[in-house]
Amino acid sequence: MSDISRYLRQQKERFGETLYLEEQILREAELAAAGLAEEGGTVTEAWNTARTLAQLDELICNCTKCALGETRNRFVFGVGNPNADVVLVGEAPGAEEDKTGEPFVGRAGKLLDKILEAVDFKREDVFICNILKCRPPNNRDPLPAEVEQCEPYLHKQLALLQPKVMLALGRIAAQTLLRSKDSLTRLRAETHTYQGIPLIVTYHPAALLRNPNWKRPTWEDVQKFRALYDERMAAAAKGAQA
Ligand code: URA
Ligand code: URA
Repeated sequence: MSDISRYLRQQKERFGETLYLEEQILREAELAAAGLAEEGGTVTEAWNTARTLAQLDELICNCTKCALGETRNRFVFGVGNPNADVVLVGEAPGAEEDKTGEPFVGRAGKLLDKILEAVDFKREDVFICNILKCRPPNNRDPLPAEVEQCEPYLHKQLALLQPKVMLALGRIAAQTLLRSKDSLTRLRAETHTYQGIPLIVTYHPAALLRNPNWKRPTWEDVQKFRALYDERMAAAAKGAQA
């Protein structure tokens, strides 16, 4: 008789037919039923324990924490390289994104790809997402309560990706991330930090379609962004060598 069989027989003698579950297993099952999990002795929401982006997507893609969960067609998690050193953050999905489930796919998205290529980044090499994962009706600005519910998902994405640099796309994305009322012009003028990651701000590609005069300053912003990336990668390589 194997050790396991002997153990089970003993358990049966002691407890009858009722399956004996260790306290910890019961506790985990109770937590899971409530959408919670325990990690390092702290109870947290289950999605917070995701180890990969794919796992995180799976755990949050049916989110109904805010009312946008009722009106969305697709949850737009974000796309790109799970090892990306570069993260781009927009505001929220638009109509096309809500249909396809992918951020920046419309005309603005095509322009974004070109802007990236101009400084030698490919869409496949970076990670692109939004502050809100669901489309606000009629593309209205995100409400503070929606940001409050959704931004922790962005934080978790960043914790998993650990990018070297971030680019905020547009005034609303920048003001929301940085909790600032400053103009886009002012926000573009300096390098910020978000969740410990250096962040540069530029125009939204949709704004460039409306006003091509903003293309030139955008080019300057992304050159600065590329230089910051190169600098941070060189510093990381040096650190790895030391
Ligand atoms: N605008 C955004 O801010 N994000 C998208 O994904 C598409 C358009
Ligand atoms: N207005 C915006 O909302 N975003 C831009 O990028 C520029 C103007």
